[in-house]
Amino acid sequence: MKATAKAHTNIALIKYWGKRDESIILPTNSSLSLTLDGFYTTTTVAFQEDLSKDSFILNDQSVEGEAYQRVTNFLDKIRNLSGKTNLYAEVSSINEVPTAAGFASSASGFAALASAGTRAIGVDLSDEELSRLTRQGSGSACRSIYGGFVEWEMGSRTDGKDSQAVQIKPETHWDVRVAAVVLSSTMKKISSRAGMKRTVETSPFYTGWLDSIPNDMKEIKSAIRDKDFEKLGTVAESNCLKMHATTLGANPPFTYWHDTTLRVMHTVQEMRANGIPAYFTIDAGPNVKVLYLPENEDRVKEKLQEIPGVDRVTLSKPGPGVTYL
Ligand code: PMV
Repeated sequence: MKATAKAHTNIALIKYWGKRDESIILPTNSSLSLTLDGFYTTTTVAFQEDLSKDSFILNDQSVEGEAYQRVTNFLDKIRNLSGKTNLYAEVSSINEVPTAAGFASSASGFAALASAGTRAIGVDLSDEELSRLTRQGSGSACRSIYGGFVEWEMGSRTDGKDSQAVQIKPETHWDVRVAAVVLSSTMKKISSRAGMKRTVETSPFYTGWLDSIPNDMKEIKSAIRDKDFEKLGTVAESNCLKMHATTLGANPPFTYWHDTTLRVMHTVQEMRANGIPAYFTIDAGPNVKVLYLPENEDRVKEKLQEIPGVDRVTLSKPGPGVTYL
């Protein structure tokens, strides 16, 4: 009753931004991401008859509180699927870099937990079923079941049975690289959960965001199919800016950007003006991810590292889907 799974994080090129159902996590828009090889979580789940509660060890430290509660609530879903509702587990996870590289670890974390947990308890799910289950731990995690370019189809059903991720192209299709630019200073964090909720409920720009998704999705899929980097980057950067614009219209207004965030954005635009194709995208935090092609890796890294206020730059290639160890 023990299994180990490894899952990689992903960066959204078309963002998931808003829920239509908070309890089973159903989104208000479809999204599309690239799975990254550099950042991953390896999780072992061991269900044992003699346990009276779950335990969760992250990077060799016992976890309590809210993070523990999210894990045990998610294990309840796995127990319910299997019918073994009184069986508890020892969960132990190792996060490779994600937090240090400015990535939320929830995407790789819940994808690894869902995969190892279902395998350990003996529930056999298809990738789409696994993606639907993973979605209920953290929305963006449902895309990390697959490698390469992945779409989370929002679906329209109220029970979520049509809201899952599917692979658009595998990681071998196109070597698009991502530089994770981590800023040295931090600021008070508004979680993605709280940020999207406030935006959906109060921002007059939110409907504009939703209206723009179908065309962005169509354009980015054709860019991926044709390996058109300029088009991919242009759509991803514009989609990111539209998402962040909704937060400025929220009540109370907020932004995830820091002064250094803007400096990185300007540097990326300057690189383009100087003939280096590079584009940025930003999630619910101040750090910036920069898309570039392998032939420009050295120049992009050097330029980004020179920016005052940047702590470090970590590079990543397209990564694979979940694997079992
Ligand atoms: O799945 P969550 O709750 O970590 O939300 C992710 C939201 C964004 O990172 C901003 C966008 C995305 O699609 O990953």
